[in-house]
Amino acid sequence: MSVTYNFSNKVVLITGGTGALGRTLVKKFIDSGAITISSFLNEKEAEKLKTANPKVEMIELDIGKEEQILKMIPILVERFSTINILVNVVGGYLGGKNITELSGTDWDTMMNLNLKSAFLISKHVIPIMKSGNGGNVVHISSRTGLKSEGYDSAYAASKAALIRFVESAAQEFKEHNININCILPTTIDTDANRKAMPKADFTKWLLTEDLANVVLFLCSPSSGVINGSAIPTYGLS
Ligand SMILES: NC(=O)c1ccc[n+]([C@@H]2O[C@H](COP(=O)([O-])OP(=O)(O)OC[C@H]3O[C@@H](n4cnc5c(N)ncnc54)[C@H](OP(=O)(O)O)[C@@H]3O)[C@@H](O)[C@H]2O)c1
Repeated sequence: MSVTYNFSNKVVLITGGTGALGRTLVKKFIDSGAITISSFLNEKEAEKLKTANPKVEMIELDIGKEEQILKMIPILVERFSTINILVNVVGGYLGGKNITELSGTDWDTMMNLNLKSAFLISKHVIPIMKSGNGGNVVHISSRTGLKSEGYDSAYAASKAALIRFVESAAQEFKEHNININCILPTTIDTDANRKAMPKADFTKWLLTEDLANVVLFLCSPSSGVINGSAIPTYGLS
């Protein structure tokens, strides 16, 4: 059974709303009454998301580029008055190489995509929350951020650092009524993962719907006492 939330009048910014988990989050926040904004890079994916969810507001934004964030935030504030909730879904995986095979570019890609992006978007969204009534921020780390099985050092290190980043940020803004947490998914049942691992047992994988339920809870007033946490979302694996 899934709980119904009421996010009416809340402005939610979802980075990476065009991705597998992002799409489910966009739909759920819209169904819960939120004014829902999704960033996109790929125009085709943006069109698909908009067709499936006509109410979503789409913004083209590379969250790895601070100058783009600096331009976009005032536009969003002018249009929607504030940002109450930030769900930072942007991230990516790079595995299958040991550290001698990993290039400096591979390393930087993981750090930029999974860690620096979280820093940059937080740096510019949190002041908006501070000047309002507070807010909720959820980042998507990974169980690999706690324990790596090897061949994913850059990914594991970036997701591990994201957990410490969340802890630190949560301490820094707790007096401003801003809750900052992350979740730690194991493998998510996505088309990309099914293609990459066709022989895996998909029944052990997480459904985006179940993860989205945890994210909505973390963005709701019911989770007010949870701050700076890395929530295990392991399912059956
Ligand atoms: N999939 C898994 O098994 C798994 C497991 C553990 C943790 N996670 C984490 O969960 C999150 C969601 O995973 P997912 O599989 O749903 O991801 P996904 O389908 O690959 O989607 C990634 C999203 O990030 C966007 N994006 C990438 N780089 C960006 C940038 N520089 N600026 C703005 N947007 C950017 C993409 O936009 P475009 O589509 O427009 O390019 C897309 O919307 C990620 O943080 C991932 O690391 C995933």
